[in-house]
Amino acid sequence: MIHKKYAIILGTRPEIIKLYSLIKTFQNNREDFIIIHTNQHYSEDMDRIFFNELDIPSPAYNLHVGSGTHGRQTGLMLERIEKVLHKERPYCVFVQGDTNTVLAGSLVASKMQIKVAHVEAGLRSYDRQMPEEINRIMADHVSDFLFPPTVKQKKILLSENISKEKIHVVGNTIVDAVYLIKEIAQKKSTILNKLGLTRSNYILVTAHRQENVDYEDKLENIIKGLELVCKKFNMKVIYPIHPRAMKMLKSFKIRVNESIILIDPIGYLDMLNMLQNCRLLLTDSGGLQEESCILNIPCITLRENTERPETLSVKSNMLAGTDPKRILECAIAMDNNKKKWENPFGNGKTAEKIHSIISKA
Ligand code: UD1
Ligand code: UDP
Repeated sequence: MIHKKYAIILGTRPEIIKLYSLIKTFQNNREDFIIIHTNQHYSEDMDRIFFNELDIPSPAYNLHVGSGTHGRQTGLMLERIEKVLHKERPYCVFVQGDTNTVLAGSLVASKMQIKVAHVEAGLRSYDRQMPEEINRIMADHVSDFLFPPTVKQKKILLSENISKEKIHVVGNTIVDAVYLIKEIAQKKSTILNKLGLTRSNYILVTAHRQENVDYEDKLENIIKGLELVCKKFNMKVIYPIHPRAMKMLKSFKIRVNESIILIDPIGYLDMLNMLQNCRLLLTDSGGLQEESCILNIPCITLRENTERPETLSVKSNMLAGTDPKRILECAIAMDNNKKKWENPFGNGKTAEKIHSIISKA
């Protein structure tokens, strides 16, 4: 068998988490691979903490791209990734999701005639206001191996004339990560004690999307919605706040009621522990819509659309947008919905499936 070399390109918090099981699978199978980190995320609590907690090897290359406008950030990534790929010449580059790192990694590799594997392919919100939507479409159309989580995304890819030989439905690697980490999280995380919280007695929030937090009216509405929910449920609202959202809250000088507890971003063990024990989740995160679905926690999405429609079908999730009254109504409706649902995102063996497909290619 020909010995193949792989490059895993990542750059942000969700990519580190969602590529974790693939990295472990490559390690277990003694594959020849390198990790290339664009460093799109670089703050300790957005980056290093996940490498440490998940025992992921340090990247072979850190490209130190950091923050910037879309053009500048993507441009620096293109230039720096190209240099590394020229030197390393892998058979295939792996990218995950829809960030600028994914756009740059897939574009450079495809132009160098290096195969591109897109993990979590085929998601569409049909909302071009989201930079992620553009990144996903571009990455899918230059990829050689597309790994959509469910048949819904396979159908989308086929409808965009991507050839069926390239598409492999494998589930989502987030299920692998949740299954591998959820018990360790319950044992090791001490965050509930630290914050004086008990099971089902607090509400968890995350919100960071550009199209939400970069607009004063939307961010203000989200905060008002949280205040209504807090009052109605008479519970603390805990919001581990993304640096983008924190920066925007400060720049808009939005006042946040003290019943909403803002904390720094938390590690994955703390997050899975917080999520497993909360009463409700309110979020605009992609990953957290999936994780709440996997862990049977009701989710209210602070967006008008989602590229995770499976969560709506199984009724683990409701779209609230950013109107405060609608946020409250959805929170009440989801709290009254005590039904369990089936996780549609796979059985936790997604990385193994991807490995099996790529190693036979
Ligand atoms: C990026 C992704 C988004 C993903 C999110 C995960 C794109 C277009 N967006 O959004 O899809 O959901 O990551 O969290 O790729 N900052 C820090 N420290 C960091 C990183 C960022 O302080 O380590 C601050 C900076 O002020 C920066 C801002 O956050 O300007 C935004 O960071 P950026 O990586 O551009 O986008 P995210 O909002 O993180
Ligand atoms: N997450 C975390 N700590 C936090 C917020 C999120 O560990 O303080 C995890 C979350 O559980 C999920 C991933 O980060 O696995 C989602 O990242 P984010 O919401 O930043 O990005 P998105 O999924 O929206 O692209």
